[in-house]
Amino acid sequence: TTVYVPRDASASSLGADAVAKAIETEAAARKLDVQLVRNGSRGLYWLEPMVEVDIGGRRVAYGPVQAGDVSALFDADFLRGGEDVLALGPTEDIPWLKSQQRLTFARVGIVDPRSLDDYRARGGYLGLQAALKMTSAQIVQAVTDSGLRGRGGAAFPAGIKWKTCLEAVAEQKYIVCNADEGDSGTFADRMVMEGDPFVLIEGMTIAGLAVGASRGYIYLRIEYPLAQRALQAAIEAATAAGYLGDDVCGSGKAFHLEVRMAAGAYICGEETSLLESLEGKRGQVRFKPPLPAIQGLFGKPTVINNVVTLATVPIILERGATFYRDYGSGRSRGTIPLQLAGNVKRPGLVERAFGLTLRELVEDCGGGTASGRPVRAVQVGGPLGAYIPASQLDTPIDYEAFAAIGGMVGHGGVVVFDDSVDMAAQARFAMEFCAIESCGKCTPCRIGSTRGVEVIDRMLAGDADQRERDEVLLRDLCQTMVAGSLCALGGMAPFPVLSALDHFHEDFEGEARRIA
Ligand code: NAI
Ligand code: SF4
Repeated sequence: TTVYVPRDASASSLGADAVAKAIETEAAARKLDVQLVRNGSRGLYWLEPMVEVDIGGRRVAYGPVQAGDVSALFDADFLRGGEDVLALGPTEDIPWLKSQQRLTFARVGIVDPRSLDDYRARGGYLGLQAALKMTSAQIVQAVTDSGLRGRGGAAFPAGIKWKTCLEAVAEQKYIVCNADEGDSGTFADRMVMEGDPFVLIEGMTIAGLAVGASRGYIYLRIEYPLAQRALQAAIEAATAAGYLGDDVCGSGKAFHLEVRMAAGAYICGEETSLLESLEGKRGQVRFKPPLPAIQGLFGKPTVINNVVTLATVPIILERGATFYRDYGSGRSRGTIPLQLAGNVKRPGLVERAFGLTLRELVEDCGGGTASGRPVRAVQVGGPLGAYIPASQLDTPIDYEAFAAIGGMVGHGGVVVFDDSVDMAAQARFAMEFCAIESCGKCTPCRIGSTRGVEVIDRMLAGDADQRERDEVLLRDLCQTMVAGSLCALGGMAPFPVLSALDHFHEDFEGEARRIA
């Protein structure tokens, strides 16, 4: 019997390794034949560690399982799908999963991330095979036609970025994967790399064929050691099988791939400081132009895309551009992996076509707050995303609809807060975060963020008159940072601050604060 216990970092932090060990020990003691597979997570984090048993090709789930529950599971005959208090039924029938459209995450949590055979058995490398029959321009056209936009946060059309790089003339070009997932409440990149590393490798190989790049780097967040191991093992297996190397699948085209560990700084997720860091320098933002697609790594044309963007490419090539663009709404085509975190009953990964509302996500999928108190604010798009008040929960999740309310979808991180949140403290946090993480290259961000913290502190300590004067100053400072910062860190840190002032002004008012 095959039993699946996730090796995913979140599941492991909740005790999955001890559960796996207990299952092995118990099976040996009972002389039962159990084959343990350490898969990625299905993304139902409130049920982790979630153990699955393969029963005639159908998986049945149990969770959350602790090592101490394992003996009882065996007693309940879970290897044959026996009923137990932790039984969740057939995994695919769990409503959370059933309501999703998993395209990028089609295999995450299902395959054995260490097995190339398993990857191939479930449609892996069909995208590359299709790409190998196409010209570079045709591959770029397919990605353009699919409507895929950068899932790292900026939502720039991937096909147009690739076209710029394809048209740049150079002997050497590079594909760089931005795997420095730094946004608060995000984990989609990590789940892909830990749970289905081959899909990222395949996507990068296709990108290499598309623009004529023979070398790729994955710039991986240093805090992701499990992803590093999964990627290294997958690169070795793909190289041994001829999917990477001097002659990819006998095409005569080369693609080599390396993982580089990041420097541990939020700003190194910004593409140009990422390139500096990858070149061995201090991670400081470069001026643009030139765009990396024209002069990127070591001055050569470089495609930089986020993990989810690159991991979505194989299914587009396999199923066709139309298949992918048929999902979504407006100019936001395809699906987006949303990451539900914070004060929410059912946190985890929800991949859905663009267009569902924030309310559906937070209330239907997430089950509301974990505390049971009303939702007061939701921060979407990481620490630089605006705080969205409960009154705007009916906003559909698509890039344009979010921009229209002054928010951003970003990398799809969604952090929920209940009515006990102090939004003035959250605004201060945004400015302080910017002050700590600023690379120091430009004045509005380097100096502005520190002054911003001071002004907020003064507002919170002062009387009504002082507060009014300081608010004018703070809004003016925010405007300067938005207009004058060189990159998104200084340019967007004001958004959470301004949204807190606009929607939750009472939290800045001393009297109200004292009563609360
Ligand atoms: P951007 O709008 O300057 O650029 C978007 C991308 O398109 C870049 O790769 C740029 O080089 C490329 N590009 C623009 N014009 C092009 C052209 N004509 N041809 C080829 N390529 C072109 O945005 P930026 O500064 O790269 O990213 C900001 C975003 O990053 C924010 O919106 C935020 O959501 C996100 N972010 C994500 C984080 C994460 O952990 N995933 C962390 C922090 C921010
Ligand atoms: Fe550096 Fe901040 Fe300027 Fe970005 S905005 S370049 S992080 S100082």
